[in-house]
Parts: sequence; structure tokens; C-alpha cells
Amino acid sequence: MSSIFQAPKGVSEYLPPRSAAFLAARDTFAAAATRAGYAYLELPVFEDTQLFARGVGESTDVVSKEMYTFEDRGGRSITLRPEFTAGVVRAVLQHSLHRLGELPVKVWAVGPAFRYERAQAGRYRQFYQVDLEAIGSEDPAIDAETIAIAWDFYRSLGLTQLTLNLNSLGCKECRPAYRAVLQDFLRALDLDEATRARIEINPLRVLDDKRPEVRAQVADAPLIIDHLCADCKAHHDQVRGLLADLDIPWTDDPRLVRGLDYYMRTTFEFDHPLLGAQSGIGGGGRYDGLSETIGGPPLPGIGFGLGLDRTVLAMEAEQVPSISSPGVSVYGVPLGEEAERKVFALVTELRRAGISADMSYGSKKLKNAMRGADRSGAAYAVILGERDIAAGSVQLKDLAGGDQFAVPLTEIIDVIKGQLS
Ligand code: HAM
Repeated sequence: MSSIFQAPKGVSEYLPPRSAAFLAARDTFAAAATRAGYAYLELPVFEDTQLFARGVGESTDVVSKEMYTFEDRGGRSITLRPEFTAGVVRAVLQHSLHRLGELPVKVWAVGPAFRYERAQAGRYRQFYQVDLEAIGSEDPAIDAETIAIAWDFYRSLGLTQLTLNLNSLGCKECRPAYRAVLQDFLRALDLDEATRARIEINPLRVLDDKRPEVRAQVADAPLIIDHLCADCKAHHDQVRGLLADLDIPWTDDPRLVRGLDYYMRTTFEFDHPLLGAQSGIGGGGRYDGLSETIGGPPLPGIGFGLGLDRTVLAMEAEQVPSISSPGVSVYGVPLGEEAERKVFALVTELRRAGISADMSYGSKKLKNAMRGADRSGAAYAVILGERDIAAGSVQLKDLAGGDQFAVPLTEIIDVIKGQLS
């Protein structure tokens, strides 16, 4: 006996009816980003490995443990994108978008990203993000704008239980001094070897450790928020003031660190309380040094990536109405060969008139065809038998109420339009 193929471990797939929620989330985001003046980017799924190694940072888990890296047939080291930001900045620099028009360059993208993580509910090896970036401005209003777009996107999907956590990670002026203070504090603690090594490479990440024994020890650790320089503090206060103006509630989270190296100043994460261990449904922040890290000119930037998979899980957990599959409005039921030709033409005409329609194929008997009509979610069935053809009419059946009446074939489109409006 041969067994059928299975998808690789840890990938997320969207099949009907769940795929309707995925599409709703993606399209809602597209509309929100477009409304705010962000243009669409379609970027490659793979890039030069060094782009991520340098951009995201060698010391991050993403680069050191999770990348899908391989040598292509030309001997180049290629990596499937683990995130979008490095590729977006690469594309802006390569195509000089920052020199062609107004700053900031405002762009968004959507698609799969790849991380070799331990697969579990809400954590996948191929997952989907929408990503939005504003590149070329330090204005705190841009920070607030990006956060507001994400917040309003979630709200417009019907999600109500979301929290926004906010922090500032300082800049190249104030963070080194803080880092040294933090390292001094951490070196005096009783920590395992791997964590001690982390103190030397990426001490801020130790604050983010979820293990209770580490949490207890770092409870009194010095926090970046108390070590910001005057510029970073002013920037942070302005972002908070603007969010307050927009009635967007947030929680100050002085331990919010984020897992990618490029962040500075504003950082934020969206959490959903019903998602268990993988509650982070989106996150982002400023990356004012990233352009230089990958060989470009100084070009500040801010943006976010929202996990579409976790957004769909949150929609399901909150049972938001937009996740029900829309289906079609009208379903054609032909009885006999000639009827099939006429119904086929009618269904096509309905679609051309902007009305969603489907039909029963394969010369089914009335009972089976009507089962198809019920399953389709249509409001109306259009039934055509030999007697109807002879009479020049069709039967229009209200599938919810059960009423059925004959309509002249020539008028059916207008009648359906009238019924649906
Ligand atoms: P990130 O926090 O690594 O940020 O990912 C953003 C979101 O992608 C997460 O909040 C989560 O919802 C989702 N995500 C990440 N990994 C997985 C996974 N293995 N399975 C399912 N969902 C996942 C970034 O990627 C940054 N590039 C965001 C950004 C854009 N910052 C500035 N601009």
C-alpha cells in the first residue's frame, strides 16, 4: 500500500473554510496600508545569506539557529527570508527609492517567512506576515502612525482583546552605557553557562528570559528606560503623547527587548491573551542603524511585522464574525443537457453583473444538486428543467425561506439583483 505525501513538518496551510479568515485579514491589511499611503512591494522569498546575518544580527536566535540556508547550484549562499525588514531596506537602497521621492518611503508587503523553530500551535516553520515599513524619517509621528495602522487593523478585524506593549531601546548614544551597567549587574548573578555567554553578546535578551529562576534574579535589573539620553526620552514621550491623542491604549513594558538586533528607540509588540504560549501576534520598532549595517547611507526607519497565522488564530479564538466563508449568492441547478447550457450562460452573466454565482456540474439529479445549493451558502437557487425551458422561465428558490416562484428567463438577472439589494 502506498502512503500519500504529507506537508513538511511545521508549515501552516489554509484550506476552506479557514482560508476565508486568512484572506479577510490579508485584504483588510492591504486596504489599511493603502489608505495610509503605503505602496505595495513584492520581494523575493530568498536573499543573500549575508543580508540577514548582518542586518538581523549573527547573535540572534533567528540567524544563529533558525535560518533555512542553502547553497544554490551557482555556489551562492542563499537564505529563505526569516523576516521582511532586511529585504525591504535592501530593495529601497538597491533601487534608490529613498532618492526618488518624498521621505519617508512608505511600503508594505505580505507573504511567507521561514524559521526553523520547534513547531507548535501558533509557531510554524513557514508562516505568514504582513509587513509595513516607513523609511527615511525620525519623526515620532511616523512611529505613532505605524502603531496606529496595526492597532486599527486588528480592531477592524473585530479583535478586541489585544494589548500593545511599548518600550524604547535607546540609541547608539545611550545604549552602550546602559549595556555596560546591565552587564555588570548580570555578571554578579548565578546563571547557567549559556546565559552567561549571552551576557557578553546580547545582555538585553537576558531580561527577556522566560524561565522563573532567571526572571526572579533579574527582577531588580537596571532598565534602559531609566538610562535614555535626552533625545531618546523626548522621542519616546512624543510617541506616547501621540498614541494618547489617538486613544490607543498601551502598556509601558521596560523589559520589552525584541529578538532582532537592528532595533533602537521605539519598540512594540501586540499580544493576544487567548493564544497561549505564542501570544505575540505582531511586533516592530525603529531600526535607525540598519541601512548603514547593510552598506547604505544613514537612513532611519520604523515598521512592524504582524503574524497572519496568529491573527487568524486570534480571530477564531474571539469568534469574530468576519471569519465565516462568504460563499456565493446564487446557485444554478440545471436538470438536463439543454438546461445545463442555459444555466452555465446565466451563471456567467450573473458573475459579469458582479453577482457571485456557482452551479451544479455533472448532470446531477435534483436532490443531489439541491444539496450542492445548500452547501454553497447561496441565498437563491435558480432551477431550470425541461418544462421551464418550454415556458421560457426559471424557478427562483429562496433557500432560507423555501419560497419558490417562476421568473421569465429574460428578467431573471434583474429580479435577482432586486432580491439581493
Ligand atoms: P518578529 O517579532 O520576529 O518581527 O515577527 C513578527 C511577527 O511574526 C510575530 O509577532 C509573530 O506574530 C509572527 N511570527 C514570527 N515567527 C513566527 C513563527 N515561527 N510562526 C508563526 N508566526 C511567527 C519581525 O519579523 C520584524 N521584521 C518586524 C519588523 C518590521 N520590525 C520592523 N519592521
